[in-house]
Parts: sequence; structure tokens; C-alpha cells
Amino acid sequence: MSSWRLIWSRFVLVINCFNCCMQLGGPHIPLKTGRRDGRRSRADVVEQFLPDHNESISAVLDKFGAMGIDTPGVVALLGAHSVGRTHCVKLVHRLYPEIDPALNPDHVPHILKKCPDAIPDPKAVQYVRNDRGTPMILDNNYYRNILDSKGLLIVDHQLANDKRTKPYVKKMAKSQDYFFKEFSRAITLLSENNPLTGTKGEVRKQCNVANKHHDQDP
Ligand code: HEM
Repeated sequence: MSSWRLIWSRFVLVINCFNCCMQLGGPHIPLKTGRRDGRRSRADVVEQFLPDHNESISAVLDKFGAMGIDTPGVVALLGAHSVGRTHCVKLVHRLYPEIDPALNPDHVPHILKKCPDAIPDPKAVQYVRNDRGTPMILDNNYYRNILDSKGLLIVDHQLANDKRTKPYVKKMAKSQDYFFKEFSRAITLLSENNPLTGTKGEVRKQCNVANKHHDQDP
């Protein structure tokens, strides 16, 4: 199974784009139907292939570039971090033993309150909302946040500061229409990347679950 198919399945799980994108206030994206997908998804394999949150922006641009997604497309995709949350386990390295000076000092007390321990209690569900202002709306607030050094992940911070991506970050911060246009284009490319073909996998009746009553796995 290719790494990009795994990444796509994670993205489908997290934003289930076709339907949820609109429910979250995002653009309507008329994706093609009939994509063949696998019947199994193994969390340990997915983790192995997902881009790491400490990944450099160059590696991220290269990986997405390999599937035809250009720089504005990558900038737009990361705008998905306008919704949802980041668990403390992914953040503590920016807080302890020292606060990452790249974080906006006005945002730090809130993050520390949400993630009070250097080693988060694995049983407690501790997290910080990606976008405090509009946590469950897919909008261009993300870009204003990262320009204001309020991006939680290293990749968010780099996006706002790398000379290749910054111009697009600024443009998307100014124009939600431009963000939505690029987001729709990139999600469409992602959805069409490297599907299973022939008799492999299956066309799902419901996009976020494998079909029932199958005797064989691919
Ligand atoms: C390219 C590099 C990317 C990296 C390194 C990355 C990393 C992460 C990490 C570490 C989290 C926090 C997970 C947690 O703590 O539970 C996260 C959350 C999230 N990511 Fe990404 N991500 C990337 C790209 C994307 C893309 C392209 C999308 C969608 C198109 C996306 C959608 C999301 C969403 C919606 C969440 C929130 C999930 C939730 O609330 O449970 N990410 N990402």
C-alpha cells in the first residue's frame, strides 16, 4: 500500500471531505465518485507513513509535489488545520523544558493551561484547539493565526515563515475565496491520487466505512 493512499485515508477520516467540508463551512467540492478503496486500515502502518509534525517544509513540499500538488496547493491543504485539535503529546516539545521562542507569548499561557505536564497523562485527553477563534469552521483564520505565530505545529510555523510558502499564506489570509479555490483544487488532486484498480479493493457504498458482507480482503 502506498504511503499516499495511507495519508489520503487519514485525511478522509479526519475531514471526510466530500460531506464534512461543507458542514464545517468550507467549499463544496464536487469530487468524482467510484474510487476503489481498500478494506483494511491499520493504525500502526498509517502512523509510519504520515508526515511527522516535525517534518521540514521542504520535505512536505517534495512529498505533495510528487503527486502533482504545487506550493499553493500545499499551503491550502494545511489550511485544514483551521479545524480540530492537537493533542498535548504533539506539543510538549515546544513547551518543556523551555518555551519555543517562535510561539506568540500571548498564546503561550493558554497552551500551558491545556498542556500542564511535560509528559502528558496518557489516560487524560489533553489537547489544544487548532484555532481558538473558530475551532470547527474551515476558514482562512488559520493563515492569520500562523502569521501571528499561533500555529501549534512546527509545520504550521514553517509554512508562515518559509519564503516559498509565505506569499501564499499572506494571500490566503486576505482572501477566503482564494483559499477555498486552492483548497478545492488540491483536495480534488488528493482524492484522485493512486486509487486501487481492477479487482483490488471496492467502491464503498458509504465513503467512510468498508462495505459489509465481504468474504475476501484485497
Ligand atoms: C503535511 C503535513 C501535515 C502534518 C505534519 C500534519 C500533522 C498533524 C498533527 C500532528 C495533528 C494533530 C493530531 C493530534 O494530536 O491528534 C494534525 C491534526 C489535523 N490535521 Fe494535519 N498534518 C499535515 C497535513 C494535513 C492535511 C493536508 C490535512 C487535510 C487536508 C490535515 C488535516 C488535519 C486535521 C483536520 C487535524 C485535526 C484532527 C482532529 O481534530 O482530531 N493535516 N495534523
